[in-house]
Amino acid sequence: MFDLIVKGGALPDGRLTDIGIKGGKITAIDKLENAQAGQVIDATDDLVSPPFVDPHFHMDATLSYGLPRINSSGTLLEGIGLWGELKQVMTQDDIVTRALKYCDWAASMGLLAIRSHVDTCDDSLLGVEALLHVRSLVKNYIDLQLVAFPQDGFYRDPTARANTIRALDMGVEVVGGIPHFERSMLDGSASVTELCEIAAARGLQVDMHCDETDDPNSRHIETLAYETQRLGLQGRVTGSHLTSMHSMDNYYVSKLLPLIAEAEINAIPNPLINIVLQGRADTYPKRRGLTRVKEMLEFGINVGWGQDCVLDPWYSLGTADMLDVAFMGLHVAQMTSPEEMQTCFDMVTVNNAKTMGLKDYGLHIGAKASLVILDARNPIEALRLRATRLCVIANGKIISQTKRPDAKLAIAGRPETSNRRHQS
Ligand code: FE2
Repeated sequence: MFDLIVKGGALPDGRLTDIGIKGGKITAIDKLENAQAGQVIDATDDLVSPPFVDPHFHMDATLSYGLPRINSSGTLLEGIGLWGELKQVMTQDDIVTRALKYCDWAASMGLLAIRSHVDTCDDSLLGVEALLHVRSLVKNYIDLQLVAFPQDGFYRDPTARANTIRALDMGVEVVGGIPHFERSMLDGSASVTELCEIAAARGLQVDMHCDETDDPNSRHIETLAYETQRLGLQGRVTGSHLTSMHSMDNYYVSKLLPLIAEAEINAIPNPLINIVLQGRADTYPKRRGLTRVKEMLEFGINVGWGQDCVLDPWYSLGTADMLDVAFMGLHVAQMTSPEEMQTCFDMVTVNNAKTMGLKDYGLHIGAKASLVILDARNPIEALRLRATRLCVIANGKIISQTKRPDAKLAIAGRPETSNRRHQS
């Protein structure tokens, strides 16, 4: 007797199967013809995926677009300045309210694991307290992992160092940094070293905003790889953005990629935000602003798409849909072969779960029974349509259901069939 059976769906690898759920866990993946269950969901012709995972987000800033004003230049630096203005006036309740609203959006989109940076450059640590509270409120349906992020510079801001350590003491579980925003390359490099040492001493993961710039000489990723090796942090360190790599000398990159690979550093390109932030000072040709995604994947580096921002000082759009993120990444990185498109789907599910170190993630017996049923037959179709999330299940419980859309996008005049909604 199962609590719930999801019948007849296609898994991302193409297998057609039923999934039996009991006690919040997946307990069977097989044809379950005569099995009894408290509830049965028919997923015939639908894609059944593990939940979407966003490994790079800023939940303290989300849904604040226009407060107190709009970023008129569209640059990273004006966004940081604008965020500084907002920090002066926002309250803990504001942050909690906005974050919970975002978590509702995320749950409805099947986004059930989020790594959020939280600013540690405010002496009151309002954002840290707010997001620790939110983490406890959403824990039954969203794995929210927090990164202590000294937005204004670990050394550049006078109290960031002490506040970052306080945030870790309060229960923030990942060490962040922003070396390219320190006052000098030397300070940036030193911040990478000290932050990695803090993580090693506490047994924590590291996730740095690293080289989010168009400057090809911003090479803090090299220091990050070096410190990861020196401190034995392999597999526990992530480089976010890494945009300077798009402009680096090819010979230097040929040396860098093996260093990143041997340090087992995870990489998070954020295509929605970096396609709009980067290259702002260029005329033409104008750089795309994305790191070397295909080249890192070919080197065996774990790469996953991150969202970074939704309606905040840096990005004026966004919906908590990781399929939007992957769709943009696919285009900017030119990942258009069938295999590459399938990889783009993996990059917002399994690859990101690996970066976050999620336990019990995936569709296998013994895994947490969290999954998403999409109105698509396979991952590529899900990307093409940014398919409707028909049903979202978290820890064995249905938390969101959406009516299957009508066939308004179908080819006119074709008979109504189960495939029609997929525009086939
Ligand atoms: Fe970020």
